[in-house]
Amino acid sequence: MHLKASLFSIAVSAVAAAWNVPPEYGLMPSSDGRFLRDINGQPFFWQADTAWLLFHRLNYTEAETYLSDRASKGFNMVLAVGFTQIGITSPNRNGDLPFVGKDVQQPNEPYWAYIDSIIELAWNKGIRICMVPAWGQYVHDSANNPSVLTTSTAPTFGHFIGQRYPYLPKTLVADTNPWWENKTAVKADYAAGGVPPTYEVVDWSPVYDALAMAIVAGEQDAIGSGTAWSPLLTIHPTNQWFNGGPLAFASAFLGDRSWLTLDSCQSGHTDFPPNPPIPWWNARRGWESIEQMYAAGAQQGARARPVLDNEAHYENRYDNGNSVNPWWNASDVRTGSWQAVFSGAAGLTYGADAVMQFVIPGLYAPDGSGPGDDWLADLVLPGSGQMQWVGKAIMDREDATYFRRVPAQDIITGDAGADDKRVTAMRDSAGSWIMVYTPTGKPFTIDTATLVSCNGTQANWFNPLDGTYRTFDFVCAGSNSVIMFTPPVEDGHIDWTLVLEVKS
Ligand SMILES: *[C@@H]1O[C@H](CO)[C@@H](O)[C@H](O)[C@H]1NC(C)=O
Ligand SMILES: *[C@@H]1O[C@H](CO)[C@@H](O)[C@H](O)[C@H]1NC(C)=O
Ligand SMILES: *[C@@H]1O[C@H](CO)[C@@H](O)[C@H](O)[C@H]1NC(C)=O
Ligand SMILES: *[C@@H]1O[C@H](CO)[C@@H](O)[C@H](O)[C@H]1NC(C)=O
Repeated sequence: MHLKASLFSIAVSAVAAAWNVPPEYGLMPSSDGRFLRDINGQPFFWQADTAWLLFHRLNYTEAETYLSDRASKGFNMVLAVGFTQIGITSPNRNGDLPFVGKDVQQPNEPYWAYIDSIIELAWNKGIRICMVPAWGQYVHDSANNPSVLTTSTAPTFGHFIGQRYPYLPKTLVADTNPWWENKTAVKADYAAGGVPPTYEVVDWSPVYDALAMAIVAGEQDAIGSGTAWSPLLTIHPTNQWFNGGPLAFASAFLGDRSWLTLDSCQSGHTDFPPNPPIPWWNARRGWESIEQMYAAGAQQGARARPVLDNEAHYENRYDNGNSVNPWWNASDVRTGSWQAVFSGAAGLTYGADAVMQFVIPGLYAPDGSGPGDDWLADLVLPGSGQMQWVGKAIMDREDATYFRRVPAQDIITGDAGADDKRVTAMRDSAGSWIMVYTPTGKPFTIDTATLVSCNGTQANWFNPLDGTYRTFDFVCAGSNSVIMFTPPVEDGHIDWTLVLEVKS
């Protein structure tokens, strides 16, 4: 039966046999657990773009256009979904469904063979895919009704994903949390006012565990049991809608799991509490979640994991996805990314609103969350070209310092500012450099005492719009290491990154 089905699909679709993912694809945490490296031990700065429906809505030519653009802007990671949020009965651009007979235990070969071809295409352009095997709605819906991924079906599906896509980083079941109350009821009761009732909490983590453990086992089967390998694996949480539960961090839900090798959050697209007094993430304060996850990993007995914001405000998405509000612009997403990385993130996640959903005029209508109505127009938004300078500023320092960087908010003397006005500092823990990002253009003061030597320190302003340096005279102020810096004034932006580096 299986043999017949696959011979048939090869015959009709002429799709190449599944591409074998090479071991060089694999990424892993650095030795202290905080950052990422490749199999040769080289630094890997996660610069991700969001392309949820890449495998579903783009044909091969368009995927080539998309990936070439992202590669030219330094993106080395693309987030894309296997079994998408569009639905189990929705075919991809080629007309293929993800499964045979709506059974998640029976993958439809042509659908996944097409995914293979896009993963290979991306790899040939220097881009890895961070695979979301399935959207969260296939575990449970908003009102907590179960769906097709269960503790009995997830093992087969997970094993398929792991065996077919070893080495790919993966984030499980996007946009939901393992700890959930009936959100439909919570929102309705909140709107009605009064004292809310106590809601039943459903713990969906057994499905997450079943899926994750099957992926790990599937990868092991693909690679061979003699090779030690743990995939980069996390979850893609959503805002915490409910009182009393863990904060919406992967580690807060599942920190004791050995399969959880990356910590992540979603700071999202909203800058006001959607449902007070419930805990919420502020899109202007993505650095806060990063800081909290980073701190949690430093606690005694905890495991330090690389931390990432898996979904920060998308460029050209309305605040709260609502057209009564302005949309997030290049300056917003740029500031969020710099602040997150300097707060300890292992990289950044960018997204453009019409790109993540691949709006194609006449074919796929926009979801209304932003002003963009054509993915090709949103593909060239200015923010997408500015993300690469965050990684460059770090990679321009000596390789050895890549894994030594630490958040350094404590070197800022006086008020650092709040939210997306906050000045954020990072430094080499061995003292060879300090970097400070300011979103405001205003003078700020730092204590430079952590630099190993004042002598030979080179000072630059790094332009977050184009990655160029402006050297300026840096005068060591004798025994006083507390120094005020005033950013240059330039048209088009007010944000700058100060780079102080001791040249030996
Ligand atoms: C993809 O779609 C575009 C636009 O409709 C078309 O020009 C192109 O030929 C298609 N490519 C493939 C491989 O189907
Ligand atoms: C969730 O809440 C809604 C609204 O109160 C209710 O109609 C529905 O039955 C609830 N669902 C479950 C699974 O409890
Ligand atoms: C971007 O949006 C922010 C508010 O989030 C606003 O202050 C700023 O002026 C906007 N920048 C541009 C270039 O439109
Ligand atoms: C700094 O450099 C100058 C000249 O190169 C030298 O005279 C001085 O001793 C150095 N100071 C320190 C603290 O290393």
